[in-house]
Amino acid sequence: MKVLIYGIAGTMGKIVYETCKNNPQIDGIVGVDKFANANDYTIPVYNDVNNVKESVDCIIDFSVKAALPDIINYSVKNNVPCVLCTTGYDKNDLALIEEASKKVAVFRSGNMSVGVNALVKLVSEAAKLLGLYSDVEIIEQHHNKKVDAPSGTAIMLADAVKSQIDGLNIINGREGQCGRRTKNEIGMHAVRGGTIVGKHEVMFIMNNEVVTLKHESENKGIFAEGAVKAAVWMANKPAGKYDMLDVLGLK
Ligand SMILES: NC(=O)c1ccc[n+]([C@@H]2O[C@H](COP(=O)([O-])OP(=O)(O)OC[C@H]3O[C@@H](n4cnc5c(N)ncnc54)[C@H](O)[C@@H]3O)[C@@H](O)[C@H]2O)c1
Repeated sequence: MKVLIYGIAGTMGKIVYETCKNNPQIDGIVGVDKFANANDYTIPVYNDVNNVKESVDCIIDFSVKAALPDIINYSVKNNVPCVLCTTGYDKNDLALIEEASKKVAVFRSGNMSVGVNALVKLVSEAAKLLGLYSDVEIIEQHHNKKVDAPSGTAIMLADAVKSQIDGLNIINGREGQCGRRTKNEIGMHAVRGGTIVGKHEVMFIMNNEVVTLKHESENKGIFAEGAVKAAVWMANKPAGKYDMLDVLGLK
């Protein structure tokens, strides 16, 4: 199959490129990146997706939120499934994704690793068992170049808790929130520094005991492996919304 890597000059794009080159199921790679120099590559690389001449079977995107409309337009116009790994989308972006998924296969996940997606399931189970008895706090840690906070993964974990307990609000950072903690909230805390790839902790805090579920990413290769796995799985899928739990058969 042929893959288009969106954001190929970025940190993740470069790792995805290497991962695709080593995957025997992929026999063609095209790149798009607003700031790439096509002369640096032995494959076709474009600054604008509208100039892509080759036909492809799937898009893998690790770029920026602002690129979403271009990716969606290309994907719908050419009926090419897309694997959206970029994080930091707002309500309008999510509405755009929802609309597109009626016409083409759209995959989106804030975290492409097997471990984190299993953690989402575990957190949902823990929330079912402990949610009524505990205060939930989420702590996420990332490198000092990350542009969004809280992380897409932290939002996935909060959503897993919310799926089991009605009426929870996210409280980011607790700045100025000196009053007593209420039961209907999830505390969300972001740490940024150095080269931390990604650490996530979900704490179920009760009186005199704490249950913590935790995941640590040791390198970014796990996200690229997951993205390529998803792209191979997505090729030829009918219109709809998909995520990593579909790819891993964990639903
Ligand atoms: N889902 C996951 O598992 C996962 C894992 C890691 C990173 N991410 C997310 O992936 C995204 C990219 O991360 P990164 O560390 O590679 O960032 P990066 O800044 O290193 O790379 C982004 C690339 O996008 C390019 N770009 C910028 N604007 C563009 C545009 N309008 N059109 C096309 N290309 C454009 C940049 O030139 C750059 O090469 C972030 O949102 C990050 O949070 C997701």
